[in-house]
Amino acid sequence: MPVERDDLQAYGAEVAGCTRCRLAQGRTQVVFGSGNPHAELMFVGEAPGFHEDKQGVPFVGQAGKLLERLLEQIGLRREDVYIANVLKCRPPGNRDPQPDEIEACEPHLFRQIGLIEPRVIATLGNFATKLLSGSPLGITRVHGQEQRLTMAGRPVLLYPLYHPAAALYTPAMLKVLESDFARLPGLLGTDAPAPVAVVREPEPEPLVAAPAEQLGLF
Ligand code: URA
Repeated sequence: MPVERDDLQAYGAEVAGCTRCRLAQGRTQVVFGSGNPHAELMFVGEAPGFHEDKQGVPFVGQAGKLLERLLEQIGLRREDVYIANVLKCRPPGNRDPQPDEIEACEPHLFRQIGLIEPRVIATLGNFATKLLSGSPLGITRVHGQEQRLTMAGRPVLLYPLYHPAAALYTPAMLKVLESDFARLPGLLGTDAPAPVAVVREPEPEPLVAAPAEQLGLF
């Protein structure tokens, strides 16, 4: 609905001037999020890196290319989903997000989730997974295991995945990420539809009576 899109856009414009934490000082720009504002599937990564900070769009570097490839393997493009991060501003030198930065930034993410209302949120890596699950269990323990949660007053399926940046250089992790990814259509209920039952025309009457098996009835 256009109202929601306007709300998300308006909120993005508001967040563009955010000074809630120290990261405001070193950023080129806020990287709010991108994609379909009505997406059923939302991805949440960690924080913008060098390229994201320059372009203002999440996941445009190498990890983003891998994310796009994984999406393609399940028949989706980045325009079909919504992509955001825990932190909206790049930490200097791509260091880990600090607890006070996460705390300052999390209202932005929760508001985005409330406006987009995705059915499935795939968290990429530890930071997003721990924040949104509210559990200290790390990604190695919980990847590929969906969790039913309520977020912004609505039911949502949280689906933790390895971070694509981690999978870039670890083939074993990439394999796991690919197979976890392959379950997404099922979680979204968009698996290929079951083939429609074929209604057979009645067999023409045989001239000579034949056993039922030969008529293909059993
Ligand atoms: N890694 C992230 O977590 N987010 C990005 O936007 C890019 C790389």
